[in-house]
Amino acid sequence: MPFTPNRDFKRAPRLFARAQGLYYYDPAGRAIIDGVSGLFATAAGHGREEIAQAVHDQLRELDFTPNFLRSHPLAFEATRRLAALLPQGLDRLFLVNSGSEAVDTAIKIALAWHRARGDGRRSLLVSRERAYHGVNIGGTALGGILNNRKAFADVLPAVAHLRHTWRAESVFSRGQPETGGEELAHDLQRIVELRGAENIAAVFVEPIAGSTGVLVPPRGYLENLRAICDRHGLLLVFDEVICGFGRTGKAFAAQSFGVRPDIITVAKAITNGTIPMGAVAVDRRIHDDILAAAPEDGIEFFHGYTWGGNPAACAASIAALDIFERERLFERGEALAPRFAERLHALADLPAVADIRSYGLLGAVELKPEGQPGRRGYEVQKTLFDAGLHLKSTGDALILAPALVAETAHLDEIFSILRRVLATLR
Ligand SMILES: Cc1ncc(COP(=O)(O)O)c(C=O)c1O
Repeated sequence: MPFTPNRDFKRAPRLFARAQGLYYYDPAGRAIIDGVSGLFATAAGHGREEIAQAVHDQLRELDFTPNFLRSHPLAFEATRRLAALLPQGLDRLFLVNSGSEAVDTAIKIALAWHRARGDGRRSLLVSRERAYHGVNIGGTALGGILNNRKAFADVLPAVAHLRHTWRAESVFSRGQPETGGEELAHDLQRIVELRGAENIAAVFVEPIAGSTGVLVPPRGYLENLRAICDRHGLLLVFDEVICGFGRTGKAFAAQSFGVRPDIITVAKAITNGTIPMGAVAVDRRIHDDILAAAPEDGIEFFHGYTWGGNPAACAASIAALDIFERERLFERGEALAPRFAERLHALADLPAVADIRSYGLLGAVELKPEGQPGRRGYEVQKTLFDAGLHLKSTGDALILAPALVAETAHLDEIFSILRRVLATLR
């Protein structure tokens, strides 16, 4: 099993058998409230009938198409719909099947763009400590988590890492920390000065580092990264696999933070988590330059996956986007965020809590480690499951990202279980 201590899991498997709304049900029918949208995916809640119906109808109508030299109308409709939500001009899309594929595709697009413009020497990538960009080789290299990298170190392409954005002085910040934005972003300037802008292709960041415990960037940080990229001709890529689709209050974190990247990667909630799908959105000029550099009848981008943009995924995505729009879920999430933050930060009085961080409907409680780092987080997530709450733990951080359809009563339930369990820890 992925990212799971398999032997421990097999001793006491924690299984989901059914899901509806904000709840999972185990095989015995016990309800477990979902505090993290499965894994940042089911923004509109579980068991959405409209999506099931759309996928069912699509499979009966057109089950599969190759997408090399062929396509189907829904792929274009899905990308049009997605482009309408993205920052203006990021409206050229490439469909894939996961966040990891989106990231590795974005790496190739960045490299292909520089080459298309006669600047093929730019091959160094920049990312950040504590980053998570999926598990393919490119994303593993970008990643900033030692355990994910060390067994593969010899085959990973060159990446320079910025410092992560967590600072002791900013503990218990609600939203963006006030300090450190300029200093932390200056790491990029230092890499440019050390390695030479002419060798650097792109900078990859999660606007908020999600998987490693919701590290919210300080004010000015993303703006400063943008300015340094502009000064030196580097592409800025936002990996919005977690942040996208209303998680931060707007459709995308690029809009919440008012910083426009050149490329955005998305996945997870793109189909409300139902069918594997991801996408890379690129600025129109990147698309146009890559096309212009290829011979008129030649393939412009030598890359693609058999299932990228498959009909069922496109149908699921369109149905999910319909729900987001019809139920105004991004606004709803934005309106719910202050109540979420209030309840989350109310846990600060518990003795085992070392830090709390939040932005939008994304939050983390960092526990004081006990024994080996990560041990306590791992044990506590099991206890929480047994007490009726599903969330994600990374190290000693407990991560929450409730569905945008959550009601106040759901938040009450999530936080009362969390308080009850955490109150037993010292
Ligand atoms: C920011 C980010 N990028 C990429 C990925 C990888 O996505 P997937 O697991 O769909 O390959 C994740 C997964 O959590 C993620 O959080």
